[in-house]
Amino acid sequence: MIEVQHLTKRYGPTTAVDDVSFRVERGEVLGLLGPNGAGKTTTMRVLTGYMPPSEGKAIVAGYDVFDQPLEAKRRTGYLPEAPPLYPEMTVRDYLAFVARIKGVPRTERKARVGSVMERTRVADVANRHCGKLSKGYRQRVGLAQALLHNPEVLILDEPTAGLDPKQIIETRQLIKDLGGDHTIILSTHILPEVGQTCQRVVIINKGRVVAVDTPENLTSRLSGSETLYVQVDAPGAEVKEALEAIPGVTRVAPADARGSLVGFEVNSETGRDIRRELAAAIVRHGWGLLELRPLRMSLEEIFLHLTTEDTAAEGAPDSPSAPPEEAVHE
Ligand SMILES: Nc1ncnc2c1ncn2[C@@H]1O[C@H](COP(=O)(O)OP(=O)(O)OP(=O)(O)O)[C@@H](O)[C@H]1O
Ligand SMILES: [Mg+2]
Repeated sequence: MIEVQHLTKRYGPTTAVDDVSFRVERGEVLGLLGPNGAGKTTTMRVLTGYMPPSEGKAIVAGYDVFDQPLEAKRRTGYLPEAPPLYPEMTVRDYLAFVARIKGVPRTERKARVGSVMERTRVADVANRHCGKLSKGYRQRVGLAQALLHNPEVLILDEPTAGLDPKQIIETRQLIKDLGGDHTIILSTHILPEVGQTCQRVVIINKGRVVAVDTPENLTSRLSGSETLYVQVDAPGAEVKEALEAIPGVTRVAPADARGSLVGFEVNSETGRDIRRELAAAIVRHGWGLLELRPLRMSLEEIFLHLTTEDTAAEGAPDSPSAPPEEAVHE
């Protein structure tokens, strides 16, 4: 349904997208994941025909986005990073206007605008001027305009940016519901987001694809060794020594200190669950176990792993990896 072949985009001396290739099957929801400046928006702008690529090509719904731009655009709904709204228009008028431009037949426009406003939950601001909307509502109106002509393909640039937690959940659900009937690419830099909405993920970093996989495979592949956070009510040095003595533990590093309490990050061999031994050891010493929970990898850590994967694979299996900068504590 979407095919990106050796796409490269340069802005002067900057290579924003560097030889990127991937496919999205019909009905699939694909996450384009990457840090700021990775090239997500640039890729999407090329895919939606807003910019020509420097090299390579993109085919959307069977049409080359540059040779047959109108055919491709007709089948694509695009939520840009900053949705282009007309500040003087009300939400309803704006959506009716977009529906007209996108060729929704006159007799269907009103019903279409109404149903899209319901789906994206903007009906309560239907009569408000676009210029007076909060960021979250702007984003939702942007999503509404992308859906108006019921396109086969949806390209959504950070669809949940600026939304409150309730709206994030609703928007993710909406995207999931839209998948199946629609083929969707969404961009994000939030890893849990792709886990919840996408079937497959393309991770890009500095314009290059560094991984393509399902969210599950990615997290388990990249987690490699398991990490636990442990907080014990006892002297830090003694705790560290005791934890290091547990079979399967590969690394114990102080994570934080709150008064006399010290938290540790404990790494263990891949696939080895050391929680029971760990709890037993702490109890055996007569210490108080205040906290014990798994630490998930953040996107930053996953990037760290992806960019150092080759060296990590070649190095000694027991060699300590760099301490994570920031962990997602869940
Ligand atoms: N119009 C432009 N002119 C010059 N350089 C640009 C332009 N747009 C983007 N870039 C550069 O291209 C690279 C990729 O930018 P892009 O906006 O595609 O990243 P992104 O993954 O969408 O990042 P973000 O998460 O911040 O939205 C960056 O180095 C950026 O500075
Ligand atoms: Mg962007």
